[in-house]
Formats: sequence, structure tokens, C-alpha cells
Amino acid sequence: MKAKLANSLRSDSQGVVPSHVAIIMDGNGRWARRRFLPRTAGHREGAKTVRRIAKACDERGVRVLTLFAFSSENWQRPAKEVHFLMDLFLSTLRAEIRRLQDNNMRLRFIGDRGGFSLELQTLMSEAETLTATNTGLLLVIAANYGGRWDITQAAKGLAKDALAGRVDPDAIGVEQFHRYLSLHDLPEPDLFIRTGGEQRISNFMLWQLAYTELHFTDQLWPDYDVHSLEVAFSDFATRQRRFGRTGEQVEGFEKDADEGA
Ligand code: IPE
Ligand code: IPE
Ligand code: MG
Repeated sequence: MKAKLANSLRSDSQGVVPSHVAIIMDGNGRWARRRFLPRTAGHREGAKTVRRIAKACDERGVRVLTLFAFSSENWQRPAKEVHFLMDLFLSTLRAEIRRLQDNNMRLRFIGDRGGFSLELQTLMSEAETLTATNTGLLLVIAANYGGRWDITQAAKGLAKDALAGRVDPDAIGVEQFHRYLSLHDLPEPDLFIRTGGEQRISNFMLWQLAYTELHFTDQLWPDYDVHSLEVAFSDFATRQRRFGRTGEQVEGFEKDADEGA
């Protein structure tokens, strides 16, 4: 029973194209600095990469692509850079809604929307509603998102439901808690990619990445292309996902399941 519950939280992509890919798009600033350009030029170029990679993922059969666009901690950057990022967010969203629609892609946002301007919040909701019935790639943008924020807002929701008598605190388990988190209705990421050379999670999906395969590359996000994505997918295809089991168990998994049935 326990194994069955754990299985329902995760995707089983193994040795094939990952169903859910999560990317920390890092290195925009350094890309610009290397060209003696302002950091903002790197962000502009990075926005173009998003379009390229979303299309490539869709064509290769990826179902969900989650992109870290702005972290809860990125507000600490110089005000001018934050301002530029908000403007870029708004203009990119305006320009891309039609293209998403034409490509049958769905858009969804995770993160604390309250931090954004009302204009941006409205556009975000409109884009989600407009693309809600599309059946192609689901593009998730993590904006003003942090893994700790996600876990905290889940705890808050659960605590409220417990106080209201809707949840029995003694019955709270992993599965129950999971339902309060962002993306609780989707399989967890199979493959995590971070560009820009840093090997850290930077408060991305702390809960959801528990069993995700990690791939790091020195390439800077504006330079990231279809070939780079294929390298990441090839790397993913070599991984044996054990989820706590032994290699032998995983190799004979189907046989075990048959015997157990
Ligand atoms: C990622 O690139 C984009 C955001 C965090 C918004 P950076 O801006 O972090 O680029 P580097 O890491 O400074 O090169
Ligand atoms: C992570 O990149 C956040 C995004 C890509 C949106 P950062 O550049 O903010 O991460 P740190 O500060 O190097 O850890
Ligand atoms: Mg960075």
C-alpha cells in the first residue's frame, strides 16, 4: 500500500523522453557581461531561448515544462534590474499569448502572484484561461516562486483546514500534504536542468525534486539550444531510476509485479 501511494506522486519516465522537465534558466547576466552589454540584454536574449526550448520539448513529446523565471529572492537585485524584468515579463507575455495558442500550448504560473502589479496579475490569469483547454505542452512559469514559500503556503492551507475540522491532524501523511503544494495535480519533474554552471537548487521545487534526475551544464541560458537539450535527454536516458529500490529490483520490476499479482 505504501509503495502504491508513493508511486502515484511520481512519473515513471525511464530511459525515454522525460514527461516533466524543470529548468533553472541561469546565466543571462554573465552572457551579457561577456559581451560588454548590460545584464538586461542577457535577459532579453534569454526570453528568446524560452520560445526555442518550449517548442523543442513539445516536438519531442515532453508533456510539462516548468521554467524558473523569477525567484522569491530575486527581489533583492538592484531595483532597475527588477523593474526591467517585470517589464520584460509583461511584454513577453503579451507577445507570446497568440503563439502559445497557435501551438496548442497551455500556460500556467506558480508562485506568489500578490507580489506583482495588478496589470501583470490580470494578464497572467487571462493567459491561463485562454490556453486552458489546449492539449499540447503545458508550460509552467515559476514566478516569485520559492520552494520554501511553496511548502509554507501548503502548511498554511493544511493548518486552516485542520482548524476548520476538514482534516484530521493525525491522518496527515505525505500524500495529504502533497495535495496542498503547487503542481500537486501533475507528475513530479523527471529531469531537472540548470544552465550557467552553478550546481545548486537555489530554492526551486524543494519538495517536488525529491527523486528528479539532475543535469547541470556550464552553458549560459541565452546560448542554450536544441542540441544542448538533446544532450540532457541522452544523459537522462542513461540513468537508472531506483526510487529507493535496488538495481536488481528495478531490472526485474515487471516480473516482481507479475508474481505479486
Ligand atoms: C537568470 O540569469 C535569470 C534570473 C534569475 C531572472 P541571471 O540573471 O541570474 O544570470 P547570472 O547568473 O547573473 O549570469
Ligand atoms: C535562480 O537563479 C533563479 C532563477 C533562474 C529564476 P539565481 O541566479 O537567482 O540563483 P543564485 O543566486 O545564483 O543561487
Ligand atoms: Mg544567476
